[in-house]
Amino acid sequence: TERTFSILKPDATRRNLTGAVNAVIEKAGLRIVGQRRIQMSRQQAEKFYEIHKERPFFGELVEFMTSGPVVVQVLEGENAVAKYREVMGATNPAQAAEGTIRKLFAESVGENTVHGSDSAENAKIEIAQFFQDADIVG
Ligand code: GTP
Ligand code: MG
Repeated sequence: TERTFSILKPDATRRNLTGAVNAVIEKAGLRIVGQRRIQMSRQQAEKFYEIHKERPFFGELVEFMTSGPVVVQVLEGENAVAKYREVMGATNPAQAAEGTIRKLFAESVGENTVHGSDSAENAKIEIAQFFQDADIVG
C-alpha cells in the first residue's frame, strides 16, 4: 500500500465541492487517512510549487492557490500515486477523461480543482510539508 498527497484547490472549496470530490476519491478505492482545511500562505505556495517557478504561469498559480481555503489530504491505497493521477484526469480539463475529477468539476487548466503527487518520492516530501505523523491515521 502507498500514500499520496492531494489538495482540493480554492475553486473546489469556493463552489462547496469538497464532499463531491471526496466521494469520487473514495469510490475509486482510495482512503482519506489525513485531511485538514487551511489557508495557504504565499510562502507555502511558493515553496510547494518551487519546481514551476520559471514557468510563465507561476505568479498566477501562487495567486490562485492562496485565493481561498484549500483542503490538504493524505490518500492511501494500492498504487495510490498512479491511481489518484488517473482519478484526477488530465491537467487541462478539456483533455480529461470521462468520469475524472477534472472532467466533472474543473473550470480551466489553472483552476483545475485538485493536485496529486506525481511520484511516491514527491508524495513523501509533499506530505511532510503539510502533515505531522500523528495527524495521519491509516
Ligand atoms: P498538479 O497535480 O496540480 O501538480 O497538476 P499537474 O501535475 O497535472 O500539472 P503540472 O504539475 O504540470 O502543473 C501544476 C499546476 O500548475 C496545474 O495543476 C495547474 O494548476 C497549473 N498550471 C499548469 N499549466 C498552467 C497554465 O498553462 N496556466 C495556468 N494558469 N496554470 C497552469
Ligand atoms: Mg504536478
